[in-house]
Amino acid sequence: MNIALFPSVNDVDKEFLRDKDVIVIDVLRATSVITTAIYNGATVFPVLEVEDALKFKEEGYLLGGERRGLKIDGFDFGNSPLEYKREFVEGKNIVFTTSNGTRAIYKSFNAKNIYIGCMLNGKALVKKVFEDKRDIAIVCAGTYGKLSLDDFICAGKIIYEFLKLGNCNIDDISTAAYIAYRDYKGKILEYVKYAGHYNYLISIGCKEDIEYCFMEDILDVVPVFKDGRIVKI
Ligand code: MLT
Repeated sequence: MNIALFPSVNDVDKEFLRDKDVIVIDVLRATSVITTAIYNGATVFPVLEVEDALKFKEEGYLLGGERRGLKIDGFDFGNSPLEYKREFVEGKNIVFTTSNGTRAIYKSFNAKNIYIGCMLNGKALVKKVFEDKRDIAIVCAGTYGKLSLDDFICAGKIIYEFLKLGNCNIDDISTAAYIAYRDYKGKILEYVKYAGHYNYLISIGCKEDIEYCFMEDILDVVPVFKDGRIVKI
């Protein structure tokens, strides 16, 4: 099994992804939100543009997401995973758009399977993907087309979990992510505090979200994107 890592959505080679399993990561905060919403019983419909989302409102869908980290006018939820509690989302269809995370999901459309990953479900996700025995590409959303250290260390955790299960050939950038995670395991926020997006989120009052997003393996759920919607396997 081979593992390749793409550090941001702009780095993705769409042809390379063909027939592979892709794990999309946007730990702060899109894939942490999606994982939480799916765990709590929602179905999530990612879309690229705010205008696309607003069209669904008339059909009774709830809307969630952000631009510049902030809730969008007319939306029901922002991009804090703490908003997506079971009592508000269970059984609901949520149309979701974010600046980077939903772009990374659509950029991965050539893949055989598109899984949604974060720290919250890392171990459960890897256990499932490992069973597929396919080559894997990890697609980090990054921030506005550039590597984001928060996604990078989350990719490191995913790779760390794969290597615990068996032999994998990993490329050099995967090795760098693995080493970052291995060396900061148990004190990850000490690493993440150097990330530009971390500091932006702190500046808009999202400290609690960050602490939640870096909790490890608290959600035993594997979200997968198929036919325009994200559901649990
Ligand atoms: C994104 O998709 O760009 C992020 O989830 C942004 C955010 O943290 O709100």
